[in-house]
Amino acid sequence: LSTIEIDVSSVEPGMSLTAKWRGRPIFVRNRTPEEVQAAQAVELQELKDPVARNANLVGEQPATDVARSAGEGRENWIVMIGVCTHLGCVPLGEAGDFGGWFCPCHGSHYDTAGRIRKGPAPENLAIPTFEFTSDTIVRIG
Ligand code: FES
Repeated sequence: LSTIEIDVSSVEPGMSLTAKWRGRPIFVRNRTPEEVQAAQAVELQELKDPVARNANLVGEQPATDVARSAGEGRENWIVMIGVCTHLGCVPLGEAGDFGGWFCPCHGSHYDTAGRIRKGPAPENLAIPTFEFTSDTIVRIG
């Protein structure tokens, strides 16, 4: 399917789900206010990949936390393609040194905004084209 709709009504803060889109996993995570605050406090100079990698933004935007999220008012939501940017393994959620995702293949650590923070992966996890069509439905693609 070129487009899917995901019902996120049961995804409470601190929870996540994985859907499948075009043969690849899609991670949807509802971050806690503490996680959002911590991710927003990260300076851009600390990032290995300073580019947002968000297909919903025009051009190359900096990888601020809000630019990696579903946007203002929905900063708690993270929607990403769950494919490690190193060699394509599927990272594990709520794992790694930064509380985001950890790729066990060669040890890449991503933060709660899916930004690469440590390990061999060169880029932040990619954000697909998506839209919240209501408070509980996300359309991918
Ligand atoms: Fe993820 Fe190598 S494929 S670290």
